[in-house]
Amino acid sequence: MERKPASYRHTFRIFGLITIAVVAALVLRSLLVPDSFGEHEHLQAAAVADALEPDVHHVGKTTCAECHDELADLHAKDAHAWVQCETCHGPGTLHVAADGDGDIHRPDGKDACLVCHRLLLARPGEFAQVKVEEHYRFVGVEDPATLCIDCHDPHEPLYMDRDLRNARLHPLIHRCRDCHPGRTDESMPRPAEHPAIFQCDYCHAEVVADFATRSHRAMRCTTCHIFFRESECAGRILRDADPRFCVLCHGEADFRSASAAPSIAWPDHREDMAVDDGDLAKRCVDCHQENIPRLGTRTSAGPTTEERNDG
Ligand code: HEC
Ligand code: HEC
Ligand code: HEC
Ligand code: HEC
Ligand code: HEC
Ligand code: HEC
Ligand code: HEC
Ligand code: HEC
Ligand code: HEC
Repeated sequence: MERKPASYRHTFRIFGLITIAVVAALVLRSLLVPDSFGEHEHLQAAAVADALEPDVHHVGKTTCAECHDELADLHAKDAHAWVQCETCHGPGTLHVAADGDGDIHRPDGKDACLVCHRLLLARPGEFAQVKVEEHYRFVGVEDPATLCIDCHDPHEPLYMDRDLRNARLHPLIHRCRDCHPGRTDESMPRPAEHPAIFQCDYCHAEVVADFATRSHRAMRCTTCHIFFRESECAGRILRDADPRFCVLCHGEADFRSASAAPSIAWPDHREDMAVDDGDLAKRCVDCHQENIPRLGTRTSAGPTTEERNDG
């Protein structure tokens, strides 16, 4: 019996498909594999150059200061002195390479600040943190949409009238949260056997007694005298008479609540109140001595350890 020659017809299609797949794979590979692949063994040589591309570089604040010198000086004397420009603004290489025309991040919204300052139990207590609702209630803000930068300047958040780095060295001041993370209520009572902590009246008895008669008596001393810890036993104390600091609480603004501190328009207020030209150069504290601690009162050297333990 004559056998029919074998037919391979049914395989054409499958080989056709395989050929197409192989050709497609080769074409794709040639398109996808980077040119420099294999120059350094199984690595992509160009990746090294890629990693050195300018857009991921930080240039450092001295470079920023070459063009933004006034702003950099401002920044260097206030609470953010240790925060690098590019921590907030992102890498500046493209911006600098284009002489300032290139893109640079301009942080906005409350989260730009809260990313560092939101109260979190995991953060060390001594780092400055706020609960927004509490902070806003305290500084008389009603509208929750109010931005942090409506009051604070990101480059001089506390408007210090003198350089923080030269501010007076002062014995250690503890806030409750230094030892009790997350505890923001500084007026809460402490148990009788509580470990002794330094209080202002140990050394500034006269100032404290006198201050109890003044309009700001309900405020804690450290609200105006913010303390920057430098070591286990000392830090820098703020003594700030810059009007813009007072205006943080007293400036007239739409966002104020009914229970906010009495508001004034600044500097119009000074012009309205001025009696003669000399008044036009005055700061708030020059006219409102009665609202700040009496100056020139004696400071004692502080209690002995025994006295402190008794207190
Ligand atoms: C070669 C000069 C130069 C350098 C260096 C430079 N800038 Fe600028 N920058 C400018 C100029 C010019 C502008 C536009 C005018 C202006 O707003 O002052 C600008 C604007 C900005 C703006 C505003 C952008 C906007 O969208 O409103 C920011 C933020 C900024 N620079 C941050 C930085 C930071 C951070 C650095 C350091 C990494 C830096 N600059 C370095 C020249 C420079
Ligand atoms: C804590 C975060 C932070 C740091 C640190 C910081 N900036 Fe800014 N910067 C901001 C924010 C937020 C704005 C936008 C302010 C606004 O919209 O009013 C801004 C705005 C600017 C502007 C535009 C100013 C304008 O009037 O348009 C420049 C320029 C600038 N920053 C440069 C710098 C330089 C230079 C440094 C370092 C010396 C620096 N910044 C450090 C947060 C920061
Ligand atoms: C990258 C983190 C970072 C960002 C973002 C940041 N800050 Fe700060 N801020 C700091 C550091 C660090 C200090 C110094 C704290 C210290 O030594 O106690 C500080 C201090 C302050 C202080 C002084 C408080 C005190 O008691 O020490 C204020 C007010 C402040 N920042 C407001 C702001 C505002 C408003 C913004 C947003 C424009 C902002 N910060 C964004 C890191 C940041
Ligand atoms: C109405 C003005 C105002 C607004 C808006 C405002 N603050 Fe303040 N902030 C103040 C004043 C006044 C102080 C100083 C008194 C004090 O310590 O509470 C202060 C102090 C601070 C401190 C230091 C607190 C401490 O205990 O050391 C931080 C941090 C801070 N603000 C961050 C912020 C952030 C973040 C925002 C935005 C969510 C913001 N502030 C919005 C007025 C304001
Ligand atoms: C130098 C560290 C330190 C400081 C600052 C400090 N405490 Fe305490 N506190 C302690 C220690 C230690 C205990 C006892 C530990 C315990 O029993 O958990 C304690 C216990 C307490 C307790 C009882 C237990 C508890 O956690 O509820 C209260 C309430 C308290 N402290 C309130 C305060 C207040 C309010 C402030 C600020 C005025 C403050 N403390 C500041 C160290 C400190
Ligand atoms: C252990 C003692 C001691 C304690 C406690 C103490 N101080 Fe002082 N303080 C001093 C001494 C000493 C000086 C320098 C006094 C002088 O020259 O008259 C000083 C100076 C100051 C100054 C002036 C800073 C300047 O630049 O001139 C302020 C503000 C201040 N203290 C606030 C406080 C506050 C607020 C508290 C409480 C939270 C406090 N102190 C607790 C000892 C203390
Ligand atoms: C943290 C917010 C805050 C800061 C900062 C602050 N004040 Fe006040 N101030 C108040 C509050 C709240 C009152 C109202 C006290 C009361 O009457 O119970 C007040 C009252 C006053 C009054 C009296 C108003 C009246 O009707 O009797 C004057 C004046 C004043 N402050 C001036 C200042 C000066 C000057 C500074 C800066 C050195 C300053 N304040 C800083 C919150 C603040
Ligand atoms: C040239 C002097 C002078 C200067 C500067 C000055 N004030 Fe006054 N201020 C007055 C006088 C006068 C009054 C009305 C009498 C009074 O209440 O003491 C007044 C009233 C006030 C009141 C009460 C307003 C009210 O409606 O109850 C506040 C709050 C206040 N000033 C805050 C400030 C702050 C904050 C500054 C600085 C930003 C400042 N003042 C700067 C002279 C001044
Ligand atoms: C409303 C803000 C505010 C409050 C609250 C406040 N102070 Fe002051 N304090 C000031 C200002 C502003 C000065 C500096 C005035 C100047 O330099 O002209 C000052 C100065 C001082 C001085 C230096 C006095 C001198 O003769 O050199 C001491 C000490 C002091 N304060 C302690 C305290 C104590 C303790 C408390 C709490 C009982 C307190 N302060 C509350 C704003 C405040």
